[in-house]
Amino acid sequence: MQNISTDLDQALALLRAGDLVGIPTETVYGLAADARQPEAVAKIFALKGRPADHPVIVHIAGREQLSDWACDIPDAAWKLADAFWPGSLTLILKRQPHVPDAVTGGQDTVGLRAPAHPLTHALLQRFGGGLAAPSANQFGHVSPTTAAHVYAEFGDRVPLILDGGPCQVGVESTIVGLTGDTPTLLRPGGVPREAIEAVLGQTLVHHEKPSTAKVRVSGLLDSHYAPRTPLLVGDLRAIENEAYRRLETGGRVAVLHLSPLSGSVCGLDSHQMPDEPEAFARELYATLRQYDAGSRFDVLLLERPPQSAAWLAVNDRVKRATSASL
Ligand code: TXA
Ligand code: MG
Repeated sequence: MQNISTDLDQALALLRAGDLVGIPTETVYGLAADARQPEAVAKIFALKGRPADHPVIVHIAGREQLSDWACDIPDAAWKLADAFWPGSLTLILKRQPHVPDAVTGGQDTVGLRAPAHPLTHALLQRFGGGLAAPSANQFGHVSPTTAAHVYAEFGDRVPLILDGGPCQVGVESTIVGLTGDTPTLLRPGGVPREAIEAVLGQTLVHHEKPSTAKVRVSGLLDSHYAPRTPLLVGDLRAIENEAYRRLETGGRVAVLHLSPLSGSVCGLDSHQMPDEPEAFARELYATLRQYDAGSRFDVLLLERPPQSAAWLAVNDRVKRATSASL
C-alpha cells in the first residue's frame, strides 16, 4: 500500500497533472480529479466502471467558490451553505457554462459541496478550483470509509490515496435540488432533513424511490451500495428464525443485530450494531465490507433499523444494499 499517504504536495501535483487522487471526506472517501479537466474526469468513470451520463459532485473549499461553478444562485443556496458548509450537504444548482459535460453528465445543473474533513479542506484551499469526486468504489459497490477500503477497491490503479482516517459520518452527503420551484430532497444523508427545513423555513419535497426489496442483481436499477454477499433484512425474530433454519442445513450465516439476541446459538456469527443512528451510519459500510470479505458467508442477516425520521439516511442505504426482505 505504497500509494497511501498524507502528502498534500504530491496530491496537488497529481491533480494539476490530470491524475486521480483518493480523498477523505467526513462522509465517505472520494475518487477525485480536477473538475476543469474533462480528460481527468473521464479517468474516474473508467476506473469506477460508471456510466458516463452519471453526474459527479464538484467539491470546493467553501461558499466563496460557489459562483465559480453555479449561476442564478437562489437565496436558499446561500443560507444552506452558510448553515452547513463545510459539511455533508450537496446543493444542485444551475451550472456555469464552463463546467464540463463530463462533470454534469450533460445536464445544465451542477452538484456542489464543501466537505468538512480537515485534510481535504486544506487540499481544496490550496488547490483553489473544484474537485470532481464520486465515492471511491466500483460502481454499485459499498462506499469506502477508510483509505484501506479505497485500496481494496482500486489497489495501485490510483496513484495516491490521502489517508484521513475513518470517516466520521459514514454515509454520503444529503443532496438538495435548488433548481425548481421548491427545494427537493434528492438523497437523504449526513445532514438531517429536519435541520435543512429549519434553516429554509419550509418543507423539502421528497419522492422516495420504489422499494428494491425484490431486486436481486447487484448494480441493477437503484440496487446500490450493495455487498456481494446477499443481505436480508427483517425484524429480530425473522432474522433469528432464518439464521437457525440455515444453520441446521450447514449454511454460513452472519447476523447483524441492534437489539440483544434472544439466545446464543453455537456456530452463529453475530455482531451488535449501534442502536443510535449516527453511530450506526458511521459503522454501516465498514461492517458490510468486513462481513462481505473473503466470501465467508452465504448470507448476511440484518435487523431492520427503526423507521423514525432520525434513521432516514440509514434506511435509504440499507434498502439499496438489501437483496430481499424477510
Ligand atoms: O458524500 C458524498 O456525497 C460523497 C463524497 C465523496 O462527497 N460523494 C458521493 O458521490 O456520494 P456519488 O457520485 O457516489 O453520488 C453523487 C450523487 C449521484 O447520485 C449523482 O447522480 C448526484 O449526486 N448528482 C451529482 N450531480 C448532480 C446533478 N447535477 N444533478 C442531479 N444529481 C446529481
Ligand atoms: Mg457512490
